[in-house]
Amino acid sequence: MHRSFIAGVGHYIPEKVVTNLDLEKIMDTSDEWIRERSGIVERHFVADDENNADMAEKATHKALDRAGLRVEDIDFIIYATLSPEYFFPGSGCILQEKLGLGTIGALDIRNQCSGFIYGLSVADQFIKTGVYKNILLVGSEVQSRGIDLTTRGRDVSVLFGDGAGVAIISRSENKDRGIITTKLHAEGKYIKELWCEDPGSVKNPRLSHELIDSISHWPYMNGRYVFKNAVTRFPEVIQETLKEAGLNKDDVDLVIPHQANMRITEAVRMRLELPEEKVYSNIHKYGNTTAASIPIAMSEAIEEGRIKAGSLVCLAAFGSGFTWASALIRW
Ligand SMILES: CC(C)(COP(=O)(O)OP(=O)(O)OC[C@H]1O[C@@H](n2cnc3c(N)ncnc32)[C@H](O)[C@@H]1OP(=O)(O)O)[C@@H](O)C(=O)NCCC(=O)NCCS
Repeated sequence: MHRSFIAGVGHYIPEKVVTNLDLEKIMDTSDEWIRERSGIVERHFVADDENNADMAEKATHKALDRAGLRVEDIDFIIYATLSPEYFFPGSGCILQEKLGLGTIGALDIRNQCSGFIYGLSVADQFIKTGVYKNILLVGSEVQSRGIDLTTRGRDVSVLFGDGAGVAIISRSENKDRGIITTKLHAEGKYIKELWCEDPGSVKNPRLSHELIDSISHWPYMNGRYVFKNAVTRFPEVIQETLKEAGLNKDDVDLVIPHQANMRITEAVRMRLELPEEKVYSNIHKYGNTTAASIPIAMSEAIEEGRIKAGSLVCLAAFGSGFTWASALIRW
């Protein structure tokens, strides 16, 4: 069996900054409410002519540079997003064409905030078994076009932002580094606690004027219920991953949780009794970028020198589904 490791990470954040004060101008909210409840100060939204795979393409070039690889070295694409360009086909096909990657396979996965770790686990299996050598793993989201930016949708819409992060997962024969283990979970009985009901194939036809009037195309979130589950599942899955690897929390150099909410991150940190410097947070700048939040955070943590060769890094996520997941990586 081979070993897989993260050869390079890159991210792209769209230029347009939307502060809490900007949101105050378009809905009944306040900078104070958003900061207190979530830690978010600003987020970025795509430009009118910018789409999901455009961001992923830019992040890919950055990651390839850092990995010392060329576009043509990529032999498979895994694309995690809940905000693809089209109902079908997936964004992986769009990115494959943009990168000029001939006919290599492109797999889209739909696991929302846990999407990047689910994708990492799939990539890890393909690399370990020798099927592929360099997999491009993407987390990219255009949330700004799918949220209700009015007072009616404020409990959800103030939390989300756009951005992309990618990692190149490559084959290594060095047994001392790489992906140690991944753990994936889901609990489908909670689908309706955080979901976007329409348009979907339950309705016939899929799209109608009545449906739009009923506003079921905007995401719905039972915020308190999501919060309660997140603060339980994050520590649980981190401990599960550490236990399987025969390690404990004090061995970890950096935990990178999905950036859902500063209060969730803080609660998880306290439950695990970790010092502040061991838990990464950049939610104040970007809000919740769903599948993109972990690779964006990894990319920034590397730039800031908080992940170095030999660092033990733990990734963890929780989100719609509910789904949750964790990964342990020796850098
Ligand atoms: C969403 C969340 C921040 C709301 O915080 P909360 O403390 O539960 O607040 P509540 O829902 O009780 O709302 C309190 C009040 O603020 C109001 N409110 C909601 N959104 C608001 C906003 N953007 N601005 C101002 N007021 C707002 C509510 O209408 C409510 O008013 P009321 O008391 O008059 O009815 C919190 O539940 C949370 O963080 N949940 C997890 C969200 C998450 O991370 N989701 C993604 C997971 S991947």
